[in-house]
Formats: sequence, structure tokens, C-alpha cells
Amino acid sequence: MIKPDNQIIVIFGGRGDLAMRKIIPALYALHIQGLMPELYAILATGRSQLSDEEYRSEVIKATGVAGTEGETDALPLFTASFHYVTLDPSVPEDYKALTGALDRLRSAFDIPANTLFYLSLPPELYGDITGNLANSGLNSESDGWKRMIIEKPFGYDYESAINLNRILLGHWNENQLYRIDHYLGKETVQNILVTRFSNGIFEPLWNRNYVHHVEITSSESLGVEKRGSYYEGTGALRDMVQNHLLHLAGFIAMEPPSSIDSTSIRNELVKVFESFRPIKPEEAGKIAIRGQYTGAHVRGEWQKGYRDEEGVDPASVTETFAALKFYIDNWRWGGVPFYIRTGKRLPTRVTEAVIHFKPTPHYLFSDKSACDGCNQLIIRIQPDEGILLKFGLKIPGAGFNVKNVNMDFHYSDLAADRIPDAYERLLYDCMNGDSTLYTRSDAVLAAWRFLDPVLQAWKNDRSVPVFGYPAGTWGPERADDLIEEPELTWRYPCRNLADDGIYCEL
Ligand code: BG6
Repeated sequence: MIKPDNQIIVIFGGRGDLAMRKIIPALYALHIQGLMPELYAILATGRSQLSDEEYRSEVIKATGVAGTEGETDALPLFTASFHYVTLDPSVPEDYKALTGALDRLRSAFDIPANTLFYLSLPPELYGDITGNLANSGLNSESDGWKRMIIEKPFGYDYESAINLNRILLGHWNENQLYRIDHYLGKETVQNILVTRFSNGIFEPLWNRNYVHHVEITSSESLGVEKRGSYYEGTGALRDMVQNHLLHLAGFIAMEPPSSIDSTSIRNELVKVFESFRPIKPEEAGKIAIRGQYTGAHVRGEWQKGYRDEEGVDPASVTETFAALKFYIDNWRWGGVPFYIRTGKRLPTRVTEAVIHFKPTPHYLFSDKSACDGCNQLIIRIQPDEGILLKFGLKIPGAGFNVKNVNMDFHYSDLAADRIPDAYERLLYDCMNGDSTLYTRSDAVLAAWRFLDPVLQAWKNDRSVPVFGYPAGTWGPERADDLIEEPELTWRYPCRNLADDGIYCEL
């Protein structure tokens, strides 16, 4: 593995939840593996007055290893690389303090001007930050590269994403911008490309001739927790579908790139997004179902409904569940339905994609239902990461009785290989200038353009219902109607890859 260039990482929102839960632990993991630059410093910004020492004690807590078996000699060195500067992102004068701190760190530690800015703050501030950085000359690459990681949500709809792009590109070049979608940093998501393109056996089957439909589920058992006020303005479609789940669909559907470089992969992804069959405004209410969890007992414990959550309007119509049926109009996928479903307070936390292959043209054996659920390839993103193939097998004994059996691979079998957190991979890539797993602006815009009719219908058309569903269930029953064939349903995944069923263990 190559070591990134020497650099300074600036974290806007250095005391925020994301920095503490994801960014700092990921940097620590990279530090332990020797994957941080030879010379680096991390400069966190925040509105409060804090000394470097006070901030470092928060960093130690965030790593979660102090006083545990995971604590190593590497911790003091890692912690010492953190510095803190007080800054209000919207106040231009405060950027003098930032420039001063950067100059001091560069000369004290002999670090070149390469700088990575991580915007771990709400998107309303992106315009101010990018403009203020540029006005302070901190976007200039004359003395070293400058990169910026931008967290989601990237816009609120198609219009606002165009505006945000315009603002960013007013001061920065596209190749300096790294729009993060943490799903692309997940090993199991990247593995979709490896499984598809390192094996000859899948490609001949991976198309409209053999695939009946594709189903993607991302369910969470938690509710909105403390993020009620954020979620109120977002909802499941923007929070999960527009980014994470459309990307998953993109990796499943894309053509083999000509090489494994950033431009080729991102070009193929955009081609898929641009081939989504446009949703007609009048059909938006039919091909997309929204739901909202209501209070219910889940495994003996009362879980409140979404409208009773902190920060949520008691009359809210924000969806905590979304299901969508769509088509990709190209030669590979013409006519194959894709189904996406996501929700909070569902029975379990699972993300997976299921490729449902077509049944045999003529079934020879007596009990056809014995092979319900055969012919499925399940790509499990999390948990119990792995791949499962379900197929029909002869039950030993007289006659030809068929049973649906599993052939499964679990990542946990690769005992020596720990699965790194998505943020580790993404931060490492950005430090190295590799944007393959970051979203390019044309892909973001294509995804918003595709979903806009649904967002508009949900906003403006009062006849489109928000179905309630009791916490701990698989969402509104109407989501089942998206799959028009009566003999087919969604797969109901369980925590363990090989199991399924409406009622299974957490
Ligand atoms: C985030 C969403 O992007 O992804 C959250 O804002 C969601 O609402 C989370 O819970 C899911 O990520 P993961 O990695 O836990 O599947």
C-alpha cells in the first residue's frame, strides 16, 4: 500500500457527531496500519473556544481504545497530531486564524501545502465555507494540492443540487471535489465489481435474458434516534435511496469498465443513472410507496411512533419507509424491474441485493412450490457479509423431490482479514487523490433528476398516501403490491445471511 503525500487534514465540524463517530476512528485505524502520511497534522475547527489539549482528550475518547486492549503505543503519537482552531464557518475574518494555524503547522512540522478539507457540517454552510476558503487563497494549488470532501446530502432536490454544484464549481475544480457516499467505501459494495468482473461465470447470465428482477433492501431496526429534526427535512428517499441505494443498483447494473480507474468506473455508473426510465409525474404515486412508523411493541418493548420522536412535527408526513419500482432502459436490462426498499424501525438491520434469475422454462418435477426462492443470488452488504446462492437440489431417496438449498460464503470465514470501516477506505483514497469511490457531479444530478417526479408528487399531491406501519414490521403492506406477480414477494432477510422469514432473530 502506498503512503499518501505529506499533508494537513482540516476537519470543519471537528467536534461533531460524524467526526467523533467515524472520521477520527477511521484516521486512527489508518494510523495503526501505517497508512497515514509520513508527515501529517490534523486541524479541527469548531465554534467553541478550546485548547489543543482539551480537543486531544476528546480525540482519545473518540478512538474508543484508551484503557482497552486495543490501546497501543501509537495512540499518543496519533493524538499529538491534532490541533484545534476556533472558527465560525460563516465569518470571513475567522479564516485568518485558519490560515495562520495552517502556516504555523506547515513550518513547525515541515509539511508541504497539500491540504484536505473535510466538510463535516450541514450543507447550508458549504457555500460560505467554500467561498471563504477561496477568498483566503486556500483553494489555490500553486503550492500544493487542495482537496475537499463534501458530506451528503448533496442538495435537497435536482434544482438545489444544481445550485450547490454551481457554488462549489465557482471556486473549486471538479477534480478537487470529493462527494462522499459512504456506501461506496464498504468492502462488500466494492466486491460487487470484483465478483462480477473477476469471474467469467456470472457475465453470461447478468442480463435481461436470465434475470427476472433485482431487489435491493436496506432495512434498519433503529428509529431516527436523535436526528429527528434533520430527518424531518429529509425522509427515506433522500436519505438512503438517492445516494446509497441507487449506487448499489448502479454497481449491479453497470457495464464492465474498460479499466479499474476512476474515470472508467464513474463513466459506467453515470451511464446507468442516465438510463433510468424517467418517471412520469402521473405514475409517481403508483411506482413509489412511502410509509411512516407508528408506535408498537417490538420484542416486548414499546417503540414510539415517528411523530412522537424528538424534533419531529406531530403532523409530519415525512417518510421513514420508501419502496420504488423502476427500469433501466438499455440493452442489458430492458424490461427487467428493479425494486428498492428501505426503512427505519423494520424488523432487523440488513442491506442486501437479490438477483432473481428466471425460472426454468418447463418445470419437470411434481411440486413446483418446492423450488420457491430457488435461483436467487444474494449479495449481502451487511451484516453477516457474504454471498448466498439458492438453488434446487434432489432430496435423497425415491422419486425426484426437490429442496431449495443454500451455498454461502461469509466474509467472517476470512478470519485473517478484518473488514475496514467505509470511512477508512474513503479517507485513504482521498489522501491519495483517488476519486473512484466518490460521486461525480453528473451522477449526483442524474440521480436527483430521476427521483424528482416522486419528490414533487410526495410534496404536492395530497392524494398520495403516507401509509402507517407498526414499528418492527416490514413496512406498509402496499409495498408488496409493487411486485405485480401474485406469486412473488420481497425476500424477508434475517440477520444471518442464510435465513429468511418475516419473523426471525435480530
Ligand atoms: C446514512 C443515513 O447516510 O446512512 C442514515 O443518513 C442511515 O439515516 C445510514 O442510518 C445507514 O448507514 P449504514 O452504513 O449503517 O448502513
